[in-house]
Amino acid sequence: MRLIVRQDYEEVSAYAAYYVKERINQFQPTKQRPFVLGLPTGSSPIGVYHKLVEFYNAGEVSFEHVVTFNMDEYVGLPRDHPQSYRAFMWKHLFQHVNIKKENVHILDGNAENLDEECRKFEAEIAKSGGIELFLGGIGPDGHIAFNEPGSSLTSRTRVKTLAYETIIANARFFGGDVTRVPKLALTVGVATVMDAREVVLVITGAHKSLALAKCIEEGVNHMWTVSAIQMHPKGLIVCDEDATLELHVKTVKYFKSIEHVHHSIIGPHNLGLQGNLLRNMVDTNQAAKRRRRLMLQSLLNNDDDEDKDDQQISSSESSDEGPNKRRRS
Ligand code: GLP
Repeated sequence: MRLIVRQDYEEVSAYAAYYVKERINQFQPTKQRPFVLGLPTGSSPIGVYHKLVEFYNAGEVSFEHVVTFNMDEYVGLPRDHPQSYRAFMWKHLFQHVNIKKENVHILDGNAENLDEECRKFEAEIAKSGGIELFLGGIGPDGHIAFNEPGSSLTSRTRVKTLAYETIIANARFFGGDVTRVPKLALTVGVATVMDAREVVLVITGAHKSLALAKCIEEGVNHMWTVSAIQMHPKGLIVCDEDATLELHVKTVKYFKSIEHVHHSIIGPHNLGLQGNLLRNMVDTNQAAKRRRRLMLQSLLNNDDDEDKDDQQISSSESSDEGPNKRRRS
């Protein structure tokens, strides 16, 4: 799992949006092979969505062959209620990009048979080939989607009773009135999220800092369902400085140093460029070997030409040019 720390909400949003955009573009989706994207609601992803819309408007990404599955939906809210997650998604993302209506999947919290609706949703995900990247947020109690504390870490899409803490947290969207917040929701399960080939979480604000600490510094625990990400082969958390408040300084420094080393080798984003990473490391090793050999030779032979050669290599290595550039010169 990787943890990327950015200064604030804006920077976190920019990083996550860029990451998603690059993933979609790298995948080169087609009608036959669409990019399947899992999406959250809440205030955390709004900045990401706005940035994705900017990228779309600038012609940097297309949603034509993107298929989406949303994490959750309240039970019983009218579809067009401004706080329904369906309305939220159209308002913040879908209506601004070229996504096809039939490619959008949002659980229907008004379905006659809610269990059947959940089963159908899982079947649709499977039919689409599984989710490539699940973008998520978390609640202050460490819930992912609406998988409240105590949810099974092997859970699937189902009806869920909301925790009182979540009802209070979400009352801000209902004029601060807890009585207006739905008490039931449909939600993908923890296992539904973890089945995605990649999970990217956006976590911002001091109120999420305890959940972040529980998620990455302690063991996998159903009381902090987001901690399941520890078992995921490709998990990424993008958080702001405020969200790190409960982490050990050592933890934050550790993850920042990993990013720093990574950045120095392959650039600001790890977008699956392990091939480049390895190539660069091999190049660096070869250059170091050659430098040692030349130094040894020049010491033994006191050979002026070799000395020059050696200096040339050293200076080009300490420059900002990458190994590919060095090879060409
Ligand atoms: C709701 C959603 C979650 C989301 C959480 C965080 O509970 N079901 O999927 O992660 O809100 O919301 P916010 O980003 O507004 O803090």
